[in-house]
Amino acid sequence: MKIGFIGAGGMAQALAGKWRSKHAVMLSGRDADKTAKAAAAVGVQAGTAAQAAAFGDVVVLATRWQDVFTAIDQAGGAPAFTGKVVIDINNPVSIETFLTTREDGRSLTQAIQDALPDAEVGKAFNMAQVAVWEDPNMIYDGRQMVTLFTAETDRVAGTLATLIGDVGAEPVQLGDNTHAYQLEAAAAMVIKFLFAGRDPHTLFNLIQPEVKPVR
Ligand SMILES: NC(=O)c1ccc[n+]([C@@H]2O[C@H](COP(=O)([O-])OP(=O)(O)OC[C@H]3O[C@@H](n4cnc5c(N)ncnc54)[C@H](OP(=O)(O)O)[C@@H]3O)[C@@H](O)[C@H]2O)c1
Repeated sequence: MKIGFIGAGGMAQALAGKWRSKHAVMLSGRDADKTAKAAAAVGVQAGTAAQAAAFGDVVVLATRWQDVFTAIDQAGGAPAFTGKVVIDINNPVSIETFLTTREDGRSLTQAIQDALPDAEVGKAFNMAQVAVWEDPNMIYDGRQMVTLFTAETDRVAGTLATLIGDVGAEPVQLGDNTHAYQLEAAAAMVIKFLFAGRDPHTLFNLIQPEVKPVR
């Protein structure tokens, strides 16, 4: 796959570092020198937000959550994302209250989906800290880490299943993006523990559910 990141910070570098052996990857940021250094550190290409959106079949939104819609505009707005799989990794969480910042009961993911009507959107990678995504093993308590995701379409679900597997985790789909607010609320709990001084590897590692036919 060709994967463009809007953002070149901790999460972009952690995921890019895992994906670069199987995929072509470009990071982007507002400062060209800083972005070039970040991309060089993990051995991938650097560009502007518009270049990263044009480059990727898959575009990962990896700015701070407050900057997501500005970054989308700077990448070229909705037309720049036409036909793309867009992955939202962002946590709209207040670090004062440790509650999600969206008040309408809908998720940031759904707001992104509304803003990008000609893209296909999913959410993943939001429920663990950078140190977890950098971990080459992702084995916790003797089990491969499970990563929940949501997806608007089967194409997004297939893409996320592959990309989650490629970081070394076990993909499990929670549902479509109407469930994304649950991932955001779960991340708020993890973030609260991190800010309370817990180990950065604090995470939910769900057991891969056995699928049984419903009677
Ligand atoms: N940190 C974690 O452990 C973690 C875990 C799971 C999910 N998340 C979520 O992942 C997202 C990214 O977190 P992070 O820790 O990677 O943040 P970060 O280190 O602060 O990186 C944010 C990046 O976004 C770039 N950026 C900001 N505005 C931009 C724009 N308009 N166009 C292009 N790039 C832009 C910044 O680049 P410049 O400032 O240099 O331009 C920077 O490279 C957040 O929404 C967070 O909620 C974080």
